[in-house]
Amino acid sequence: MSDYNKEMLINEALRVRENAYAPYSSFYVGAALLTESGRVFTGANIENSSFPVGFCAERSAFASALSSGERKFTAICITGRAKNNGLTDYCMPCGMCRQFMTEFCGQDFEIITAKAPDDYKVYKLSQLMPGAFMLFGFMG
Ligand code: THU
Repeated sequence: MSDYNKEMLINEALRVRENAYAPYSSFYVGAALLTESGRVFTGANIENSSFPVGFCAERSAFASALSSGERKFTAICITGRAKNNGLTDYCMPCGMCRQFMTEFCGQDFEIITAKAPDDYKVYKLSQLMPGAFMLFGFMG
């Protein structure tokens, strides 16, 4: 499905980005995840004094949706910014988040990376995570 409201999803990601807890990197990320049922779940990055404990905005949004019982997803919008709006570029999902998405999303799942509601790029999961590791194939 690709006829959903991208502008709405981008605005949700931009809004939740301001809730990021990122005192160590000063890099703020927001994600808005659209389910097949039409609901939107948001997430921001949450850092920790022990750096690896922190987690990304994308997995934060997925955790919220999955915890609400959602299992089918259409698209996610990601938006990142550095402190004082400096160095604004298209924020791509990290490798760990791409692997995470692979568990729950099909090849046609869309990943929108946005700077603004009218400035974004769209990728399919198949483009960003080709040849992903899947354990199910080995489990008979
Ligand atoms: N971050 C995300 O939230 N999503 C990504 O896909 C890339 C990185 C966060 C993690 C960390 O809090 C900060 O950005 C800098 O790496």
